[in-house]
Amino acid sequence: MKFPHAGQWREHFAGVDLPVPVFGGGTVTGINFDNAASTPPLKRVRDLVNGFSDVYSSVHRGTGYKSRLSTEAYEDARELVARFLGVDDKHQVVIFVKGTTDALNRIAAEQARLDGRQVLVTEMEHHADLLPWRHRSGHVMVGLSDDGEIDVDAIEHELKRGGGSIGLVALCGASNVTGFVSPIHAVAELAHRHGARISVDAAQLAPHHRIDVRPADDPGHLDFVSMSGHKMYAPYGAGVLVAPRDFFAGAPEVMGGGAISIVTWDDTVWADLPDREEAGSPNVIGAVAMGAAIETMLELGFDDMLAYEVHLGRRMHAELAAIPGVSVLGRIEPMTPGARLALSSFVVDGLHHGLVAAALSHEWGIAVRHGCFCANPYVFHLLHMSKDEVVAVEGEVTAGRRKALPGAVRASLAPYNTEAELKRFLEAVTQVARGRIKSTYEQAADGTYAPAGGWPRIPSPLRAVVKH
Ligand SMILES: Cc1ncc(COP(=O)(O)O)c(C=O)c1O
Repeated sequence: MKFPHAGQWREHFAGVDLPVPVFGGGTVTGINFDNAASTPPLKRVRDLVNGFSDVYSSVHRGTGYKSRLSTEAYEDARELVARFLGVDDKHQVVIFVKGTTDALNRIAAEQARLDGRQVLVTEMEHHADLLPWRHRSGHVMVGLSDDGEIDVDAIEHELKRGGGSIGLVALCGASNVTGFVSPIHAVAELAHRHGARISVDAAQLAPHHRIDVRPADDPGHLDFVSMSGHKMYAPYGAGVLVAPRDFFAGAPEVMGGGAISIVTWDDTVWADLPDREEAGSPNVIGAVAMGAAIETMLELGFDDMLAYEVHLGRRMHAELAAIPGVSVLGRIEPMTPGARLALSSFVVDGLHHGLVAAALSHEWGIAVRHGCFCANPYVFHLLHMSKDEVVAVEGEVTAGRRKALPGAVRASLAPYNTEAELKRFLEAVTQVARGRIKSTYEQAADGTYAPAGGWPRIPSPLRAVVKH
């Protein structure tokens, strides 16, 4: 498959050719395969943020030129997000928040207060899409297929069994551990048929897959969508919550300035949406950055980028799995062909995940992530751990022995990554899996590894500032 623009996309991303220090002295051009954690900004977004800083001012109530300009840019960003997701403006509202965690916690708080019914979650969820439900309304957790894919029949079974006691289904759009893309519209249809709404954690889905919220009268429409700017090339602290307009009632979860129409000595009249859900001074720059990132991705050719990612991902999954001693978590080709992001988590026989990640960084200049990726139950499932084994690990960790926590190594790609980088990564994993690790490493109490004698010193850009 040919991607004529692939080589041109890279130059649009900031910091992707940074020299990084490696074992033995010297530097190599770093390879960032940790995009699922956070992404670099698009250069246009970075430049726009810098330029916009000159005209930035508080939004909404200011009459000054800069306030009016900032308000316009802030609302344009909202419009861009709405169009990007196909939001049904009449029935839904786009609210700017801090990120996916913030968005999900807000839904959970309101869901518990206004509805009170249980929330159905899957074993696949990130802790941000698990703990808020568990500790607010309470949840029913649905299992997965052996290979860690969404089991739609099991979801239907639980919804039926609940007999109307489930008010919300919370599902990730794509997993941050395996990259499996969830059948969100099929699950939405089931949820609606059983009197529940659906919340999609789109932290991983939004930057790597088309999302269409669909009109409210479509049985497969999405009620809530949550996403984070820093995972979609706009790391400036803003995120988005899309929610049904009729979800909010009474006093908002977060109260303060901007959320009201009038406050008297003993009465409060709340403002209309979205203002009533955006109390306090919003992150205007972050929101504008998100809007700019969306616009830029669309202009660069979002669909081509996604197809390229899938192509790179397929190669990564298959070639990683073919390396002796390496096992990729989850089936290489999911039940729905192609429904997998360019994201692989893997384990190497006989080597701690932290050691593999440290060696990839220190000896090859390749950034990956390791551990349980804030999705403990899913990783336990994928590692086929028994309940007793998990209880034993829980005991160890609770006693402060975090080294006992199992895990994997994750590589996650973005459109600026190249075939050459993938080749180098596969070579690096092959060498590490063969035991060809050149440096010596020490494990810390928290389970992580570092080169004996410490990492090569990289001065933080703030250090000079802090010293003054
Ligand atoms: C699937 C998923 N959900 C939620 C989150 C939380 O996102 P944030 O840290 O931006 O709030 C993440 C972050 O890694 C994620 O991968």
